Amino acid sequence: MNKLAQPVVTLDGPAGSGKSTTAKEVARRLGFRHLDSGALYRALTLALLEEGTPPAQWVDLTDEDMDGLPIRVSSREADFVIEVAGRVVQAELRSPSVTEHVALLASLPAARRCLLYLQQVAGEKGGLVADGRDMGSVVFPEADVKVYLVADLHERARRRLEESGISPSNVDVERESKVIAERDRQDSERELSPLREPSNAHRIDTTSLNFNEQVEEVVALVEALYVD
Ligand code: C5P
Repeated sequence: MNKLAQPVVTLDGPAGSGKSTTAKEVARRLGFRHLDSGALYRALTLALLEEGTPPAQWVDLTDEDMDGLPIRVSSREADFVIEVAGRVVQAELRSPSVTEHVALLASLPAARRCLLYLQQVAGEKGGLVADGRDMGSVVFPEADVKVYLVADLHERARRRLEESGISPSNVDVERESKVIAERDRQDSERELSPLREPSNAHRIDTTSLNFNEQVEEVVALVEALYVD
């Protein structure tokens, strides 16, 4: 048995690669907590949209403005609850308008600084599976297991649509592929904490894996820590 009783596991990757659903199930099987960092960026985005601050002005927001947004994150046994303006949010974080504006928000230094501390505090005690774009590279550079999930663009688009309850046609898949590719471009090209494969990450291509297979691959990497 390894001394690492409470590892930190990071899962990074492009949009629609299945990070959050995989991370959630890996955390459940290991008895760890799940941190969906994308949901935090989405919560800041939702708060700004609700306040009516025009997106063109977001670039001028200061650290104090970001810290003053009505966001609350509290820890539960299995994950974290996110509140915006006093109400628990979940489905709203995935609305088309939040999805459209979140990459802009995530490119702002004030937003990244605001969330960096919050995420690192969440991981302080270990026993965490964190998913996002910069979990292994910036937020938890000392993580015990780093995974980088990739999948074919069209497959990612198809999964995204199916998750939202649609039986997608080829035209739907093409359209969604363009939306995802654009968000990947913004996330990879931004200056701060761009989407990058951490140098010491385990790359898993999930294009031809089913959900259970991809979960098992990650769980096996964590369990290997406990083998002498
Ligand atoms: O993972 P999800 O699609 O919910 O993430 C939403 C957006 O939040 C991403 O497109 C990216 O712009 C931003 N994000 C980020 N860094 C993270 C997690 C998400 O910049 N660690």
